[in-house]
Amino acid sequence: MFSDKRRQFLRQAATAGIACSANSFLSRFAFAQPPPNSGDVARIYVDSRRTIAPLDRNLFGSFLEHLGRAIYEGIYDPGSKLSDGAGFRKDVMEEVRQLGVPIIRYPGGNFVSGYNWIDGVGPKKDRTRVLDKAWNTIDTNQFGTNEFMAWSKIVGSRPLMGLNLGTGSAERAAALVEYCNIEKGTKWSELRRTHGIEQPHKVGHWCLGNEMDGPWQIGHMTATEYGMKAQDAARQMRAVDPSLTLIACGSSGPGMPTYLEWDREVLEQCYEYVDALSLHRYIGNTQEETGKDSTKFLAMNLSMEKQIAETLAVCDLVRGHKRSAKKLWLSFDEWNVWYRARNGDAMDGHEKEAPHLLEEVYNLEDALLVGGIVNTLMRNADRIKIACLAQLVNVIAPLVTNANGVLRQTIFYPYSWALQWARGNVLNVLVESPTYEVSEMGQVPYLDVAGTLNPEDGKLSLFVLNRDLNKAHTIEINWQDRTPGKVLSSSVLTGSDLKAFNSFEAPQRVAPQSADKPSTSGGRTNLELPARSYTAIQWSA
Ligand code: AHR
Repeated sequence: MFSDKRRQFLRQAATAGIACSANSFLSRFAFAQPPPNSGDVARIYVDSRRTIAPLDRNLFGSFLEHLGRAIYEGIYDPGSKLSDGAGFRKDVMEEVRQLGVPIIRYPGGNFVSGYNWIDGVGPKKDRTRVLDKAWNTIDTNQFGTNEFMAWSKIVGSRPLMGLNLGTGSAERAAALVEYCNIEKGTKWSELRRTHGIEQPHKVGHWCLGNEMDGPWQIGHMTATEYGMKAQDAARQMRAVDPSLTLIACGSSGPGMPTYLEWDREVLEQCYEYVDALSLHRYIGNTQEETGKDSTKFLAMNLSMEKQIAETLAVCDLVRGHKRSAKKLWLSFDEWNVWYRARNGDAMDGHEKEAPHLLEEVYNLEDALLVGGIVNTLMRNADRIKIACLAQLVNVIAPLVTNANGVLRQTIFYPYSWALQWARGNVLNVLVESPTYEVSEMGQVPYLDVAGTLNPEDGKLSLFVLNRDLNKAHTIEINWQDRTPGKVLSSSVLTGSDLKAFNSFEAPQRVAPQSADKPSTSGGRTNLELPARSYTAIQWSA
């Protein structure tokens, strides 16, 4: 079983002193925040002419892997009273459609590195049951590429297809592109047509493998070997369809001993053949990572900000070496909180179908950090064009199913607010916040702010995390060039118990509340943010 090896590997690496923990870098990292403000009132300055970049909606993508109950029982459950004729869970489709998830990575994850996509196409009665070695699970293959494309269309999402560069060859990867994207007249496009799909799926975005730096990965190889394989796959795939957007595998996290060196070596081989580099990150409120200190946990999105800056530095270093005109962007194609359902039976399918794997139960503090991560992604919108909340249903997910319905976990809310209200250009908001000391991170601002302004309708949205566990904070918003109109919506996620979570029995224990609608006068708005909260507020033009 390969995936359990990830945790084991990282633990051993740390003991041997070869893994660089994310935090060991933190004290040296100058956070992109203004000088500390020792007063109690925070001030933010918003100038609509000062923007970071247009926000790519794919920044709020998600991920579905053949893992546990994500596909089977999550989105596909032909035996369920809640499913349609194709076996798709209607309640889940409705949630995903309403969320408006723009792009979904599929079919893995670790799973993809041993997956033969041919097992999952063609008449269902002929598809075989296969033992997936990544999660030690039986995959019936009743759901495959064409089912995913059909489901994506219904929920209004585009696919971000993962390719097997572990056991799979570059030739097989190009064959999948041909199967998906060529209309007719070639071996693989004709195979698709015999499977009853006349029109090509026209998949634009492709991941060249998954976490190939990880010794837990099926087919793990050295950076140079992977970089050469990625280059070969890219060339063959582009020969089939030159319009593709291709993402190479970067480091799977800053705890890897090969962190950044992997990225550099990979890009030395394939820089000119790809458009983007991936990065992944899972955060835990654990003894090792945060000392189980929630004040530090809520600051961990800033350590992701540092990871983004370091990964971009490597991309630009290789660009310099190659004297390339091309500037790569990043695909943060796996991110979330994940640390409880991360060992033992939660990681081992015991050769069963649809086992309960990685079923993390999310609490209030996880949701607050997810809000902070959403802010971090927005602030880096100039170089991150895709990011995927990992994952979408049942497996480390905002949505959980049982036989009778679907539950919204706490992390659903900050993610859904970004999808709903973050539109247009990301604002370069100047924040002056009081700070607090965090071990290995130095002074961290209590308030974490991101904002967007939609030039089409003039709507302006702000997203604010208050990391203070004990105190409400007031922010004075200074509108520098234009004052907004009226408050259209104002929601807050907060509560007295950071460890509170939702369940099918108590689905509303952690749910959004409507917040005060502050008034604006003299070019200023005062906004009160409760302790332990994440707030989203939108104004009209
Ligand atoms: O998302 C769960 C797993 O985490 C993915 O399969 C893998 O890519 C990562 O290690």
